[in-house]
Amino acid sequence: MPKIIAEGKTFEVAVETNLREALLDQDIDLYSGTANVFNCHGHGICGTCLVQIEGAVSEPTKLETTRMAFPPHSAHKDRRLSCQAKVLGDVRVTKFDGHFGEGNHIRWTPEQGLTSGSVTNQS
Ligand code: FES
Repeated sequence: MPKIIAEGKTFEVAVETNLREALLDQDIDLYSGTANVFNCHGHGICGTCLVQIEGAVSEPTKLETTRMAFPPHSAHKDRRLSCQAKVLGDVRVTKFDGHFGEGNHIRWTPEQGLTSGSVTNQS
């Protein structure tokens, strides 16, 4: 079974598990601020579930490709909408600051929970 490492937690999921659902099931702090309440619940529209993923996940859906073509997402080719990603193998997940997760400061890494916001993306 694929292993997910996110916000200091390591857990296994079935192949093709939806990444957003897997993260929320583990109480991972996926959303920022008001996006915890105001999000599209995984329909690929709001863009607030944005994360950086290392590892094997499904290719972007047409919906995700469309959403990622608009700012602020269009500036982040290294990030994905977790609600549109199916887990295919081991993955490591990082969340950045900003309403959508579009910022340059890391909120949490695969191995570490919420940071002070002082870590800057080096990529
Ligand atoms: S939850 Fe809205 S785009 Fe993923």
